[in-house]
Amino acid sequence: ETSAALLLLWAAIGYGLGSVPFGLLLTRAMGLGNLRDIGSGNIGTTNVLRTGSKAAAAMTLLLDGGKGAAAVLLARALAGEDAAQLAGLAAFLGHCFPIWLQFKGGKGVATFLGLILALAWPVGVACCLTWLAAAAVSRISSMGALVSAASAPVWAIALGYSNSSALTALLAAIVFWRHSANITRILAGAEPKIGQK
Ligand code: G3P
Repeated sequence: ETSAALLLLWAAIGYGLGSVPFGLLLTRAMGLGNLRDIGSGNIGTTNVLRTGSKAAAAMTLLLDGGKGAAAVLLARALAGEDAAQLAGLAAFLGHCFPIWLQFKGGKGVATFLGLILALAWPVGVACCLTWLAAAAVSRISSMGALVSAASAPVWAIALGYSNSSALTALLAAIVFWRHSANITRILAGAEPKIGQK
């Protein structure tokens, strides 16, 4: 049993890691303009791609995913499985609601994939493949995200990681909430396709 103080510490570390807005920092450092004025205004990989830099988008994906994975792996190594789940959730919340950006952060997709890969890798692989399949069919990034997030609790149970089913269901609910503008655009047929500005 991990003590409440230790869990709180890992929640804080997870949040701190997750709250680093890599997309914003990279595009600024690379002189690619202000992400907030581009496309959806979001700080994630999809919107970084709209700057035209595939390298910046790839780095954002790796770093935003990596911070979720790092939170889980560090907490697991030093404090066990409960701390790992909590640190992963906190990293995801840090990305979506970073204190540094007046809590106006991203939509959590890369961080969600990274933390699930670290927490229960077969579930993470299944979610990544689901993202790819849904995005390939729809050519819409947010569609990949929504289908992948919704599939996560299903994969968790199907692949024998039911101890992650509650967490993945919570993450999926927040991903849907963060994508409410995307959902409105999808339903109106107005959501841009991948590669479109
Ligand atoms: O990961 C975010 C993606 O699902 C949607 O991004 O910029 O199209 O709102 P965006």
